[in-house]
Order: sequence, then C-alpha cells, then structure tokens
Amino acid sequence: MNQKTAIVTGTSSGIGLGLVKTLLANGYSVVANARTLTQSNTLQSSEHCFLVDGDVGNKSLGEELSKVAIENTGRIDLLVNNAGIFVPGNFHEYSEEQYRSIMGTNADGFFYVTQPAVRHMLKQQSGHVVTISTTLAVQPIRGLNAFGTYFSKGAINAATKSLAIEYADSGIRFNAVGAGIIDTPMHKPENHDYLKGLHPIHRLGSVEEVVDAVLYLEHASFTTGEVLHVDGGAHAGRW
Ligand SMILES: NC(=O)c1ccc[n+]([C@@H]2O[C@H](COP(=O)([O-])OP(=O)(O)OC[C@H]3O[C@@H](n4cnc5c(N)ncnc54)[C@H](OP(=O)(O)O)[C@@H]3O)[C@@H](O)[C@H]2O)c1
Repeated sequence: MNQKTAIVTGTSSGIGLGLVKTLLANGYSVVANARTLTQSNTLQSSEHCFLVDGDVGNKSLGEELSKVAIENTGRIDLLVNNAGIFVPGNFHEYSEEQYRSIMGTNADGFFYVTQPAVRHMLKQQSGHVVTISTTLAVQPIRGLNAFGTYFSKGAINAATKSLAIEYADSGIRFNAVGAGIIDTPMHKPENHDYLKGLHPIHRLGSVEEVVDAVLYLEHASFTTGEVLHVDGGAHAGRW
C-alpha cells in the first residue's frame, strides 16, 4: 500500500502540532507549516516530515505546500486547514487591521492552501480536506464578541458543505471539526475557569480529542459536508 501524504497548516503549537505527531505515528508523510515553524523547534524534519515556514495568507505559500508534497511523495491524500487566529473585539470597534489579519489567515488561508491541493486531488480522483472550525460559528455567545471569528469560521462551514457537493463525483471529501474551547496556547490559563463554562460538559477539550475527530473523519469514507462538533455538547442547545 502507498503511504498517504497529509498537508497540515498551523503546526508549531496546539492542535496542529498534535495532528502532525499523530499522523506521523500513523504512517503518513506530512508537510507541516506555520509562520515560525523551524524557529519553534517543535518538529524535526525527516524522511517523512517536511517543514515549510510561511503565512497561509500568501498565495505562493499555498502553492508551495502542494509542490513540496508532490515533489517528495507524489501525492496529497489529506489537507488539514488548521492555521487560525482569534481576534476578539466589538464589531463597531473592529479595526481594518484586525479584520485583514483574521480574514488573511482564516479565510484567505483556506482559499490559497486548498485550491492547489484540490487541483492535485482532482488528478488523483481522491482526497480529503478537513478544516478546523468552531462551534461559535453556529452558536454565538453573548459577551464573547469576536466578529472576525464568527465571519471567517461561518464561511469555512459554508465552504465545507458547498465543496463537498461540488467534488462528490471526483472522490474528494470536505469535512470540518466544530471545536469548542480547546486547551492550547491560544488561551491563557487565567481564562480557563470562564471558558470551561462555555460547555455543558464543564471542562476544556483536549488536543487529542480534536485529533481523534480528524482521524475519524479520515476513515469515514461515506461522510462529507459534515461539521463534526467536538465541544462538550455546546452546539446542542442551552444549559
Ligand atoms: N483552541 C481553541 O479553543 C479553538 C477553538 C475552536 C477552533 N480553534 C481553531 O483551531 C485551530 C488551531 O488553533 P490552536 O488552538 O491550536 O491555536 P494555537 O495553539 O495558537 O496554534 C495556531 C497555529 O497556527 C499557526 N498560524 C497562525 N497564523 C498563521 C498563518 N497566517 N499562517 C500559518 N500558520 C499560522 C501558529 O504558528 P505561527 O504563529 O508560527 O504561524 C500556530 O502553529 C485554529 O484554526 C483555531 O481557530 C481553536
């Protein structure tokens, strides 16, 4: 059997770092990316792990990620669009800089990285794109004002569904993980008590729980267009 190849963005910490380690342990070759990946010393390059520094909001970086995968392994089986940032703020005070920053990573990054990968998956007539979204996109919370997050991750959920339909006949699946609040460097420990209260299961999620969801989706060959919530039940209702 051919070894599978994955591209994962945002891998210098948190969910992305956990994903790369697990995919490597599961026999994948991985092209890993973050802006400061090589400086962070969190992953070592190897025969099966290719490190690419760069900003997903740059078109050329998106093309480079696919190029590195093809030149080194000849395939792209899985793309995980994980790079993402959180920029809180009231809508009426959101600066253009904040808006450009979050849309550049969360929305432009999806477009620039996914398009070249899908072009290759079309040639293979197979592939899977998973994007890390958030439950906030379907369930905004009073007092948690973060316009760019709702706007960009809502777009991710819509793209996941529309592209699942567009490419269903081409063997390419699109899914997303609607994450609750996950214990990563994105959140300061002093905020954890408040954040735990945002889930009916009163704790933060772990990186491993999100990684498990991505692996499940990877194996779920009849599942496409799904936003799988890993959020302690937060999407289900009120508590
Ligand atoms: N943690 C949560 O509670 C939570 C909840 C819902 C959804 N999510 C989503 O899960 C994903 C991962 O979040 P996390 O919690 O693991 O965050 P994290 O620990 O802050 O990691 C984010 C990663 O993305 C990279 N990154 C940021 N901007 C980038 C860019 N423009 N280009 C390339 N890489 C970039 C960062 O590295 P560099 O700084 O080196 O680039 C880092 O490796 C994000 O999409 C986030 O929106 C997280």
